[in-house]
Amino acid sequence: MALRTSLSPSFPPMANTTTTATSGNARKSPRVYMASTLPKVEKAKKPYSPPRVVELQVTHSMPLEKIEIFKSLEDWAQNNVLIHLKPVEKCWQPQDFLPDSASDGFYDEVKELREHAKEIPDDYFVCLVGDMITEEALPTYQTMLNTLDGVRDETGASPTSWAVWTRAWTAEENRHGDLLNKYLYLSGRVDMKQIEKTIQYLIGSGMDPRTENNPYLGFIYTSFQERATFISHGNTARHAKERGDLKLAQICGIIAADEKRHETAYTKIVEKLFEIDPDGTVLAFADMMRKKISMPAHLMYDGRDDNLFEHFSAVAQRLGVYTAKDYSDILEFLVGRWKVGEITGLSGEASKAQDYVCTLASRIRRLEERAQGRAKKASTRPFSWIYDREVLL
Ligand SMILES: [Fe+2]
Ligand SMILES: [Fe+2]
Repeated sequence: MALRTSLSPSFPPMANTTTTATSGNARKSPRVYMASTLPKVEKAKKPYSPPRVVELQVTHSMPLEKIEIFKSLEDWAQNNVLIHLKPVEKCWQPQDFLPDSASDGFYDEVKELREHAKEIPDDYFVCLVGDMITEEALPTYQTMLNTLDGVRDETGASPTSWAVWTRAWTAEENRHGDLLNKYLYLSGRVDMKQIEKTIQYLIGSGMDPRTENNPYLGFIYTSFQERATFISHGNTARHAKERGDLKLAQICGIIAADEKRHETAYTKIVEKLFEIDPDGTVLAFADMMRKKISMPAHLMYDGRDDNLFEHFSAVAQRLGVYTAKDYSDILEFLVGRWKVGEITGLSGEASKAQDYVCTLASRIRRLEERAQGRAKKASTRPFSWIYDREVLL
């Protein structure tokens, strides 16, 4: 699984870590104080620091003139992207899959839900909780989309197609965390307070997808991620079904179906970029893959485990919920989806980028096979989300 290493591993983090832009952007000028006016607050501890701090960040890497491409695609986006949204009245809501607390049958339905949940092992719950926490950090993902130059929602209620998409996408996604959160609360299997703390920490830390305010990078990232979440929710659905919990399978499956629809929309945007600007798009694709696609919840922390995300990922890998093979499969899928191998007339650099992305999946697979060949020591780990019960990694 793609993990980034440029994070401050310490907790609490070093104070004063700020971003460093590498593309000639304005930086904060250092404040200069006269000795007699030095404010006392400078000596005080920072009142709050996020648990995870990203050290190096690049901003605004897309040349300004390319913003025009996205402005000119307004009508195209309306006719080709917004059609993948569902009207609210036709959307499922979390309540459709949960016991109705206003009905007389509520207690019986909850009892039945809990009976089924008893049959499901702890490692499955670790995966489901990790998926739910990932969904619940939705404010971060809407923020991420609104960092992208040329497509951001400038007002919070902007009528541009890009902004309409971002808000409606967020509104659809919001149902995912709601549904999983309520299910897990009712299941009686997990430590909700620890989970809620993890969500608060994660939203406070944000994420670092390394998309550099650049919508080329941003939409490649979201194409990849929507497919990754489609796969992972699809797998938790399959596992629940295998264990006879059809309700839970339905919950995970219905979320996976949304992710698939979102994947269709984002991959269509990138397909269009390949058509308009093949050089720029293949370079962006290679850039994103060289940096590796980080998972949205890679800054996860529960107040206890400094390597929580790695541990959660290891369980997901072992159970086959989301694996290193899925990573290379997604890459291969996207190369095929965008017909990257068939593009002709690229510049020298872009043609090298084309070779790189077209051969990368098989290289990753070879490395993966070699890594799997090495004997791995079995170890377990307590997860606070399940009251510190130990789970095999
Ligand atoms: Fe989602
Ligand atoms: Fe999604």
